[in-house]
Amino acid sequence: MEIKKVGVLGCGLMGAGIAQVAAQTGYPTVVLEVNRELLEAGLKRIDQFLAGGVAKGKVRPEDRQATLSRLTGTTDYKALGDCDIVIEAVVENLAAKTEAFSRLESTLKPAAIVASNTSSLSITEMAVSTKRPERFIGLHFFNPVPLMKLVEVSRTIQTGPGVEETVLGFAKSLGKVPIRTMDRTGFIVNRLLVPYILDAIRALEEGVGSITDIDQGMKLGCGHPMGPLTLLDLVGIDTTYYIANIMFDEFREPRFAPPPLMKRMVLAGFNGRKTGKGFYDYSSEPPRPNDFLAQR
Ligand code: 3HC
Repeated sequence: MEIKKVGVLGCGLMGAGIAQVAAQTGYPTVVLEVNRELLEAGLKRIDQFLAGGVAKGKVRPEDRQATLSRLTGTTDYKALGDCDIVIEAVVENLAAKTEAFSRLESTLKPAAIVASNTSSLSITEMAVSTKRPERFIGLHFFNPVPLMKLVEVSRTIQTGPGVEETVLGFAKSLGKVPIRTMDRTGFIVNRLLVPYILDAIRALEEGVGSITDIDQGMKLGCGHPMGPLTLLDLVGIDTTYYIANIMFDEFREPRFAPPPLMKRMVLAGFNGRKTGKGFYDYSSEPPRPNDFLAQR
């Protein structure tokens, strides 16, 4: 099956990145948000990323314009009806996702593939909530989507013939490198990454090191591009908290259990870069370690 038109459900951090990459690689792309305000914020995020790319000499000004011209924002599911693939990137919550799928189902053409960008929920559980489990698959991108090369493609025991191949080819056409995984919560990357970043919070809680020293440790000691607490701020404390809870529910292993500080940060709205405060405070450049945490 040829993918000619792409739909994206959700224009948050991940959805905006996915929509941008699809439009940038030549696909007419429709991105849906639940209301105008969130849609405008998401489209602005895309434009700012492209503008940043132009400023860095990575994106040609004409490509920025061409990308934006291929991108349509909507709050109406009907606008997704003729897409060949729709990638779901709504909040990491099964009820929210199944609600989105049921609204999509009423308008999407039968031949279309539905892919979920979930990083931790069961693909099978979502697939069986739709009328097309054989045309349902996992397609997990990484943050920041326009810069990270990897996608995880997760078929289920119900995925029909040809669907995985189509999606692997589609991922390559987006300029990504796909890897294949089983439908197991966390797939490959989060299964390894989540215990590591949760351990960084535990180390902070136990006073093993400061925020900056924990981050420097992994950057300079292991060659990671950013330390685990900076990475948590990038991905979102709330998002990682949801992922950890889902993984803990599935495996019942303490290494996936979110540490108590994490819950308190989510309650306080210290969700990382997107809220201006997480392990670091982003109100100044360079960001400072969050004073509140430093005083503990
Ligand atoms: N448009 C185009 N290109 C851009 C750009 C933009 N707006 N902004 C930056 N770039 C380019 C830069 O020019 C640079 O290109 P170069 O390598 O050719 O010089 C490259 O992107 C890197 O940018 P920077 O030099 O500005 O920044 P860094 O070198 O600090 O890299 C990073 C930023 C790529 C985010 C790097 O720090 C990194 O890889 N961090 C780890 C991110 C990570 O682990 N993500 C996965 C999170 S887990 C996840 O998402 C799963 C989920 O389920 C939880």
